[in-house]
Amino acid sequence: MIIAIDGPAASGKGTLARRIAAHYGLSYLDTGAIYRAVARDVKRAGGDLTDAAAATRAARALDASTLDDPALRERGAGEAASIVAGFAEVRGALLDFQRAFARKAPGAVLDGRDIGTVVLPDADVKIFVVAEPEVRAQRRYAEMAGRGEPVTYARVLDLIRQRDERDRGRAEAPLKAAADALLLDTTHLDIEAAFEAAVALISRKIGQ
Ligand code: DC
Repeated sequence: MIIAIDGPAASGKGTLARRIAAHYGLSYLDTGAIYRAVARDVKRAGGDLTDAAAATRAARALDASTLDDPALRERGAGEAASIVAGFAEVRGALLDFQRAFARKAPGAVLDGRDIGTVVLPDADVKIFVVAEPEVRAQRRYAEMAGRGEPVTYARVLDLIRQRDERDRGRAEAPLKAAADALLLDTTHLDIEAAFEAAVALISRKIGQ
């Protein structure tokens, strides 16, 4: 079974995808980490994130064993990823890896922005996770403040709105729900309730 989970930044899709993968005994791939790693590698090579050729080189040379690098969770890593993710050549260079990962037994859950639309249009189940930007900002802010990071709620909300705009507005594989995606609004749901709602959607879809 292959499950595609897409949604905007801080929608809770990563936590949800990880739990769904564990629940069904599937592998899990956080595709956002791939774009974060490309941005990290461009910067480490002294390049500019807006340089398509440098980003494409980094994407082609990506070492998948570095996707759990804590640097990918540092401040600014998501925004940097969103910039390199706008280049068609970068996205193209990462497609085969994502598809091969999904096809390996026992199946997988992939989360990202374009999994249901571009990477795995034939996924067995597609879930599109949404939540109001204010709620996503509040969750992200609580997380960052909990780690002692010096941020304000207003700044986090601003960054989330900018990232939504960039991820939705780009020409290449923009963030959008596939026509056959099941919508899951987590605005009023905590992690547990969102997980239960997702399992209910999946069970209905696969007829179990
Ligand atoms: O899910 P995330 O916040 O880790 O993703 C970081 C950025 O990477 C996101 O803002 C846009 C890009 N991304 C993408 O374009 N396509 C994906 N499938 C996953 C992430």
